[in-house]
Amino acid sequence: MTTVNNPKSNHQVAGLFTLIRNKDTKREDFIFYSDRLIRLLIEEGLNCLPFSETTVTTPTGCEYNGVQFASKICGVSIVRAGESMEAGLRAVCKQIKIGKILIQRDEQTALPKLLYSKLPADIANRHVLLLDPMLATGGTVAQAVEVLIERGVKEENIIFINLIAAPEGIQFFTSKYPKVTIVTGEIDEKLNEKKYIVPGIGDFGDRYFGTE
Ligand code: URA
Repeated sequence: MTTVNNPKSNHQVAGLFTLIRNKDTKREDFIFYSDRLIRLLIEEGLNCLPFSETTVTTPTGCEYNGVQFASKICGVSIVRAGESMEAGLRAVCKQIKIGKILIQRDEQTALPKLLYSKLPADIANRHVLLLDPMLATGGTVAQAVEVLIERGVKEENIIFINLIAAPEGIQFFTSKYPKVTIVTGEIDEKLNEKKYIVPGIGDFGDRYFGTE
């Protein structure tokens, strides 16, 4: 069963979403507030990783029973919009390896097609934080997961982190890859006839990278 982890919203998160969903928000603010949300979601994604128990000694000479990460991790961004999430991941995971996957829709078949991938050599032994801010139809992320599985990554070791998801995309993706954990900020109403998420945010990549 897929875990769709949609952390309970609070006023801070709702305020950030309100700012980035507003069509009148200036680009510099869109980037700033998206980055804040991305950072929160990445922290939530890290919460989904396995931990083991460990004991340390504090400066008072006492023992403290704590936890530590129990697995190696890496990031993989889906180019182009997913690259906007790399800085947030690097800010919380020192020296993390980050791979890239580029998928585009084939003009003839309208199906997602892999154009490029560059992944850490030992990715099969890692948990993967897969980054793409929008889960619309789910076709692109499903193709990205296929690439990871072909490279030996276990399906249950993939955590897909995104800002906004459409119910259609969640349904399609989870029926194909039920063991992947999804961490999403907000689940919207539906896709429109152009396959944009509504109410949505518009084209995330264009707004973030200034290519509108
Ligand atoms: N990608 C986007 O950037 N926005 C959408 O609404 C759907 C896919």
